[in-house]
Amino acid sequence: MILLVHDDREYLREPGTELQTDLGVLEIPEEVEPGDVLTTHLDEEFRVRRLRGPDLFHHFQRTGAPMLPRDVGLVVGETGVAAGDRVLDAGTGTGVLAGYLGRLGVEVITYERDPEFAEVARENMALAGVDDRVEVRSGDVLEGLDSHSGFDAVTLDTEDAPSVVERVPETLADGGFLAVYSPFVEATRDVVEAARERLSNVRAIETIQRELDVDTRGTRPSTGPVGHSGYLVFARNV
Ligand SMILES: C[S@@+](CC[C@H](N)C(=O)[O-])C[C@H]1O[C@@H](n2cnc3c(N)ncnc32)[C@H](O)[C@@H]1O
Repeated sequence: MILLVHDDREYLREPGTELQTDLGVLEIPEEVEPGDVLTTHLDEEFRVRRLRGPDLFHHFQRTGAPMLPRDVGLVVGETGVAAGDRVLDAGTGTGVLAGYLGRLGVEVITYERDPEFAEVARENMALAGVDDRVEVRSGDVLEGLDSHSGFDAVTLDTEDAPSVVERVPETLADGGFLAVYSPFVEATRDVVEAARERLSNVRAIETIQRELDVDTRGTRPSTGPVGHSGYLVFARNV
């Protein structure tokens, strides 16, 4: 799949198909390359773009509320996961976190208890080109935990994360990291308490991002809504 971009419009299409919009009919050649410029029969231009991480966030089919790219950035920065590392993830949901990790070269096993969501996530991993290293398993991560050990990181985005954390030390390699995303502060507290009993370096943070308004009069923080997304707990198996 490729992206066809005209100003702030984007369309996801397969090479060899046709795009019909109010800007005209666009024939997409089989041999299309990123960077090509294609012209509709009304002489409107579309630039061809390969999908990258933020494009996948916008164009993945959505099921569970996806993690925002800024929270993905924190998970990657705080755990240091890198190419060749192994990550156990749950729940897959839309697969944004799993897809980003796969694009970094991380080997991911991700659990999704809703079979229909799992199927959509598999299609999303194929769209991201990471289906060879992100394995989406249908099922409850709690039931799958016994068969796993030695992971470099465990990443959780599920309501039952505190129960999963109780069993994380057996799943993590020595020095491996736990990262838990929660939308609510109550769940965050439960995760912190479960992690403190079993892991070290336990930290909880809230993620807030403030935009800057930049215009001809000057630059200042936006007066728009505060960009709160959620809470993240990090801990380490030492
Ligand atoms: C908020 S979404 C996860 C979004 C994901 N982190 C992403 O970046 O797209 C939560 C998902 O977890 C799944 N889930 C909840 N508890 C689970 C469990 N115990 N095992 C596996 N999946 C679970 C839900 O079905 C839901 O799809």
